[in-house]
Amino acid sequence: MDTPSTKDWNINRRKFVKSAALATTGVAFATGLPLSASAFVNPKARKLKLALVGCGGRGTGATVQALTADPDIELVAMADAFMDRIDQCLLHLNETEELAADRKTNIKVEPDMKFAGFDAYKKAIKEADVVILATPPGFRPYHLEEAINQGKHLFCEKPLATDGAGIRKVMELLPVAEKKKLNIVVGLQRHYQTNYRTIMKRVFDGEIGDITSGQVYWNSGGVWVHERDELKAKYPDLTELQYQMRNWYYFNWLCGDHIVEQHIHNIDVYNWAKGTHPVKAQGMGGRQVRTGKDHGEIFDHHYVEFHFADGSIMNSQCRHIQGCQNNVSETLVGTKGVVQLSGDGNGSITDLKGNSIYKHQGFEDPNPYQVEHDELFASIRNGGVINNLKYGAESTMTAILGRYTTYSGQMISWEDALNSTIQLMPPTVDWNSIPPVLPQADGYYPVAVPGQTKVI
Ligand SMILES: NC(=O)c1ccc[n+]([C@@H]2O[C@H](COP(=O)([O-])OP(=O)(O)OC[C@H]3O[C@@H](n4cnc5c(N)ncnc54)[C@H](O)[C@@H]3O)[C@@H](O)[C@H]2O)c1
Repeated sequence: MDTPSTKDWNINRRKFVKSAALATTGVAFATGLPLSASAFVNPKARKLKLALVGCGGRGTGATVQALTADPDIELVAMADAFMDRIDQCLLHLNETEELAADRKTNIKVEPDMKFAGFDAYKKAIKEADVVILATPPGFRPYHLEEAINQGKHLFCEKPLATDGAGIRKVMELLPVAEKKKLNIVVGLQRHYQTNYRTIMKRVFDGEIGDITSGQVYWNSGGVWVHERDELKAKYPDLTELQYQMRNWYYFNWLCGDHIVEQHIHNIDVYNWAKGTHPVKAQGMGGRQVRTGKDHGEIFDHHYVEFHFADGSIMNSQCRHIQGCQNNVSETLVGTKGVVQLSGDGNGSITDLKGNSIYKHQGFEDPNPYQVEHDELFASIRNGGVINNLKYGAESTMTAILGRYTTYSGQMISWEDALNSTIQLMPPTVDWNSIPPVLPQADGYYPVAVPGQTKVI
């Protein structure tokens, strides 16, 4: 969805080593490490075993990046709801030119290490030192819980949940992960991208003064749809649950809507700059063109005003409609200057009259998706701790709060959103489960109606 081709990036390892050293907190090996981490006392002497949970587009890309990060990482186990996704992923890993030939020899997944189904994650996690979690986000809290309880280091894709209940679970896991000194990189890759790191440092040094507002955008033409007819032709026995799992973007228990799944990246930037999350929000949204039966229940546009405790406001827009102006970027407005940032690698700081203070052009910067893994594995090997769970959970919750406001049309506080008792994601799912949302008699799914829909 929002993954650029790694070919677009010039991977500059020299620059990476410098940034890795800055980002990794040195932690002594001597005592108190969990079993899996204590095995790294002589980390260079052993291979690190990697498991992939969620073998789709991002999981495949993240595995290429993990295997590229270090010559002694072996992919040993794979889990997915569907076996055909595991096989496609393995084929791609073995064929892609994005993975060097000598790293392909580190793909060591025996047939009995390919696990399919809803419990597959538990079996794959057990086999590994480091786990990649890249399923649709609804499952993330449960997969995080298992991996953290088993003491595994993690690369964990964003978002971390699709509802308040999921985020409460992730927040409960935070002290457990901290106590075990686990490394957990969350796939909000702007934190690993040079333009963001450089400009955020200048923001924290006070260059634009106090931030009073910001505009964050993910306005684009939208993402894939896997239509029921197309899936039925391929899988004749397709059940309603299988359909929703394969067309997951359009079902909130799995995806959280595009404000959560995608716009989280931009929302996260404002939270990062403020060092906190909003205290309340109000917004509006709807679906203008995304109205088909295969479009499930999500909106195609949201606008939200997020209020912070100091009175500052983040204005957030996300749109999935073709033929409109596209814009994926963040603006921070301070008392002394203005920051512009974008995932394309560029950024600038100007004073309040528009005079340039600083400009960053990112065409030679390292690929942030690769940096995430380079720094994760360097930290594991050096006995450091990188743990992105807290900001990952807060930015996910901010985006969920946004969806609550656009669906309900109400001003909603952070506390009410976080403590919402309306749980979208069932605690357990198996192939006999009835999905939490079902099509109506006409084949369309119920869609939120502001003013009527209850979210908390
Ligand atoms: N950081 C980024 O820029 C970025 C880019 C793309 C996707 N993502 C995130 O990565 C995640 C996956 O997205 P994707 O584009 O790879 O989707 P995808 O559909 O290509 O892959 C998801 C895979 O997970 C599998 N799956 C579903 N439920 C599962 C379960 N319970 N257990 C095991 N496997 C399960 C699916 O069958 C599928 O193969 C999402 O959270 C998405 O937001 C992040």
